[in-house]
Formats: sequence, structure tokens, C-alpha cells
Amino acid sequence: MSGTPAWGARALLLLAVLTVVFATKRESAIAAGEHQPASLRACRVCHDLSSEKKSQGFIGPPLWGVANRSIGSENSFAGYSETLVSMGAHGKIWDRRTLERYLADPRMFAPGCRMAFTGIADEKSRMQAVDYLFSMQD
Ligand code: HEC
Repeated sequence: MSGTPAWGARALLLLAVLTVVFATKRESAIAAGEHQPASLRACRVCHDLSSEKKSQGFIGPPLWGVANRSIGSENSFAGYSETLVSMGAHGKIWDRRTLERYLADPRMFAPGCRMAFTGIADEKSRMQAVDYLFSMQD
């Protein structure tokens, strides 16, 4: 039975390490929020960008975790167009390329989509927006 205290200590150490890792992640998420590119300001009118992933009170789906998510698949959001839902059903995901094309011209990328937004014309701002969307995950 002499091994038991050592295991206990190891478990505690592991817990401590995990706590630090999660705390650091949380802090970096908050820090990232402070440096949100200006191009994302317009999105907040219709989307929740926080890790709380709120749908209620927003016209569009929450965007936290949208990177590499299947298109039109956020369960808490009920207002997707058939266009986005069927793209997701056909296996399309939001990777850098699809997000970049969608944000360049939403209606061109997804005809019939409900996002009343003209897009981000400037390529550099668009790339920054995509980078930022990729940073928004747990
Ligand atoms: C006027 C409101 C409005 C604005 C402004 C807006 N969106 Fe949207 N967005 C929507 C709506 C509504 C949908 C759902 C579209 C559909 O289902 O056809 C959507 C869908 C999306 C999706 C697909 C999400 C998913 O779960 O599949 C992404 C990504 C997105 N918007 C990103 C953005 C970004 C980034 C911005 C800012 C640069 C932005 N939107 C600005 C209303 C808006």
C-alpha cells in the first residue's frame, strides 16, 4: 500500500497542471477578444461572438467554434436557410477557403442564404476576419 500516497500526489499534480492549462486558454481567449479586427464589428449586430454561443436575441447563429464546423449545423440556432443546411448535409464545412469565399460575397457563395450582409471587400480585412474566426474556439 506504500504506492497509494504517491498516486494521490500525482493525481493532484495532474489536476494542478490541467487547471493552469485551462486558465491560460481562457485568458488567451479574452486577450484575443480585445484584439478583434474592425471588420468583425459589423457581425456583432447579428451574431454572438462570445464563447457563450448565444442564439436568443440574435438574427444569425453564434460564431464561437465555427471553424471546421459543418455548414448550417449549430444546434441552438433555428433560423438557417435551406441553402446552408443542405450544404452542410452534403459534407461541406467552414474551413479557411469556404469562410473566405462566404465573407467575400455571401449571396454568391450561398445563393438564397439569409445573411443580409454585403461581404468584406478588402482582402486583407477578410483574411484577418477568417483568422479571428479560427481563434474563436475552446
Ligand atoms: C444582418 C445580419 C448579419 C450580419 C451583419 C452578419 N451575418 Fe452572418 N449570418 C446571418 C444570418 C441570418 C445567417 C444564417 C444564414 C442562413 O442560414 O442562410 C448567418 C450565417 C453566418 C455564417 C454561417 C454559420 C453557420 O453556422 O453555418 C457565418 C460563418 C457568418 N454568418 C459569418 C459572419 C461574419 C464573419 C460577419 C461579419 C463580417 C457576419 N456573418 C455578418 C446574419 C448576419
